[in-house]
Amino acid sequence: MQTVRGEYDRSKRLEVIGEADAKRREVVETSQKEIAENAETGGRRNFLTIVVGALGALLTATVLYPIARYSYPPERKKKISNSAVVGKDGEIPPNSGKIVKFNDLPVMVLNVNGEYSAFSAKCTHLGCLVQWDSKAANVWCACHNARYNNDGTKISGPQPADLEKYGVKVQDGNIIVSKV
Ligand code: FES
Repeated sequence: MQTVRGEYDRSKRLEVIGEADAKRREVVETSQKEIAENAETGGRRNFLTIVVGALGALLTATVLYPIARYSYPPERKKKISNSAVVGKDGEIPPNSGKIVKFNDLPVMVLNVNGEYSAFSAKCTHLGCLVQWDSKAANVWCACHNARYNNDGTKISGPQPADLEKYGVKVQDGNIIVSKV
């Protein structure tokens, strides 16, 4: 009776152990499956996050770049010359003047009795362009009645300074203006 009962206990114990083992295996397999699924889903989510982020950055750059270029245009390189041909001899009749461009600045070239002179055509008061006044035989700024000599020195008016002087000569039939 003892032996039969012992065998019964043993087989019962083995049965319980087997069930427990099966349960444990089931739990382990379920966990592994869940881990594998999460890894796959998480990977997909990360990939989508990266793609959406990259597209957002690209879109932002596409919109911002033209705005930035418009707001901060690259500086145009200006070519500064020491001298330049600004016209032909005879183009400015005696006792007259002409405004020419030199290094992108307006320069008055005067021919007074065959003698050339050149100076900035921008009045030193508020920057209006000056003109040759043939009646008064001097340079006049119509904005606030400033007067300058035919070499650009101040005569009268509100202007604080003389006009900036330039060199001028005639060479090979050309009028050449230069920095002084
Ligand atoms: S700008 Fe020439 S006098 Fe004022």
